[in-house]
Amino acid sequence: MARTHTCGELTRQHDSQTVTLMGWVHGRRDHGGVLFIDVRDRYGVTQLVFDVEKEITIHSQANDLRNEYVIAATGKVRVRPEESLNLQLATGEIEIEVSSLTVLNQSKTPPFLIEDDVDATESIRLKHRYLDMRRPRMQQLLQLRYDVTYHTRQLLHARGFLEVETPILTKSTPEGARDYLVPSRVNAGEFFALPQSPQLFKQILMVGGTDRYFQIARCFRDEDLRLDRQPEFTQIDIEMSFVEQNDILALGEELISTVCQAATGVTLPTPFPRLTYQEAMDRYGTDKPDRRFDLELRNLNEVAKQVEFKVFRDTVESGGLVGGLVVKGGGQIARNQIDRLIDAAKGFGAKGLAWVKITEGWKLDSAIAKFLKAEPFQQALPDAEPGDLMLFIADKPAVTYDVLGRLRLHLGEELGLIDRERWEPLWVTEFPLLEYDEAERRHVALHHPFTGPFVEDLAKLDESPLTVRAQAYDMVLNGFEIGGGSIRIHQSDVQQKVFDLLGISKEAAIEKFGFLLDALEYGAPPHGGIAFGLDRLIMLLGKTESIRDVIPFPKTQKAQCMMTEAPSSVSNGQLKELHIKLDLEV
Ligand code: AMO
Ligand code: AMP
Repeated sequence: MARTHTCGELTRQHDSQTVTLMGWVHGRRDHGGVLFIDVRDRYGVTQLVFDVEKEITIHSQANDLRNEYVIAATGKVRVRPEESLNLQLATGEIEIEVSSLTVLNQSKTPPFLIEDDVDATESIRLKHRYLDMRRPRMQQLLQLRYDVTYHTRQLLHARGFLEVETPILTKSTPEGARDYLVPSRVNAGEFFALPQSPQLFKQILMVGGTDRYFQIARCFRDEDLRLDRQPEFTQIDIEMSFVEQNDILALGEELISTVCQAATGVTLPTPFPRLTYQEAMDRYGTDKPDRRFDLELRNLNEVAKQVEFKVFRDTVESGGLVGGLVVKGGGQIARNQIDRLIDAAKGFGAKGLAWVKITEGWKLDSAIAKFLKAEPFQQALPDAEPGDLMLFIADKPAVTYDVLGRLRLHLGEELGLIDRERWEPLWVTEFPLLEYDEAERRHVALHHPFTGPFVEDLAKLDESPLTVRAQAYDMVLNGFEIGGGSIRIHQSDVQQKVFDLLGISKEAAIEKFGFLLDALEYGAPPHGGIAFGLDRLIMLLGKTESIRDVIPFPKTQKAQCMMTEAPSSVSNGQLKELHIKLDLEV
């Protein structure tokens, strides 16, 4: 008995044909003498009919079927009576009058129903991922993931890229997170690191003349997990020789818009707008702005100087930033809701949140009204008007940006300002090369230490390194960073200079990336690249809330696999072979 069709393909056109379907029992409805069983596979659901009057033995056989039994059913396709047509379902015009039924396997009662609006907790779903995956939504996301990688390969192939694999057992790559380590048995006391990205290898490939490289690459980072982060994730990793920043942005934009179109039918508006890092911070308080709604940040330092409110004045005098948001029509927002906004702001790290309602005739209604006057606000915010609510944060610039950026998103959600049908991709460019790490008291690379500075900023490397811009860029989609890259340093003297600034000594540099430094001495071409977060891209295109939905076998918040229960302890024998002794006291 061979399968003739899938459970998602039969229509009116197949009327009267004899077919054999195989799949899982999805559900049953017993109408007295007639039993309806839905059978499901990856492609859909088809209704089987068992009529006691016609086939008494098969009817009683069908009566014993339970959910998730695996069956093969042979029978005749028939068009359903008018009143039973289900036009929502691809196979909703027909049913199969079964003449032969085989149970291919039984199933225990599953811990949850295989349905899209499943109400099981995520940990139960992850423990039984094989059941979870039978849900149409999960099948759809797996398909989407495959389609995206398929179209990625097609486009990059057409553009002359070579897909090259790079090692998984390797040396630590400096991507900024903690490494996953793998002990070497044959080299006692030594460890491989799993790659945080193929960064160094793809640069070496350029030195090796590969010219255009890509890889759908698995990356490993032992970092704190969030909704859009996994310890093991996948990049569409790209590197190109003899290019400038614009060449990479053009390729990245072509790739993402082509793939989105081909995989989902979504047309991204091109060309993608570009914002400098500074512009993004000033307008949205973040380097990954969600531009599906407006509500931009306002700089109110000039206003702050003209009013009595001490918090504002002190902030400006000490080099801080007074920033604000104008919530159109926010005058309606009740006091207790404002109190919740204040709590939210404090949760984001603010010391306080000042609020002012603009009332009829540009009067100010606020607990701090007596320390303010309307004119400077009216001048600085020409679009603000009676009926609006103004919110202010006064703090160090980094805190003001961060809190207002997050408050903006919070308000976007709360007030329903975000248009869920909209797609807002953009590039963020001109990142600073370095930032100062207060805790470590040294400069650190904002992207990674191989990122090239702006040539015209090179002279400033010594006097004011924090003002030096990097030839680095991120692609942002709907408020998520979906990709990032840079033009690399290809001269060893510049590379040495950047290492010096980062406080990486010559010896340390040689020990860690000596092979790259060596390679740069043998005719390294100018090169640059980018990596896209495949999982994040699928998450956005598939409109899911969690990155775990788009990874077939993901890890939990605690970096565990619920299904295999990895990580797990290993035998003493294994440890001994690796020359490892555990020290578990905390
Ligand atoms: P970067 O570290 O910015 O750059 O990573 C590139 C993209 O990978 C995605 N990403 C992640 N996705 C899921 N879980 C994670 N833990 C995670 N970390 C990063 C993001 C990010 O934009 N080697 C450089 C690229 C280059 O310079 O060419 C790199 O890895 O979408
Ligand atoms: P206080 O001086 O602490 O009584 O605060 C007076 C008002 O200013 C309150 O509404 C606070 O929420 C607000 N406020 C205090 N600190 C800040 C700040 N750093 N930024 C914005 N508003 C603040």
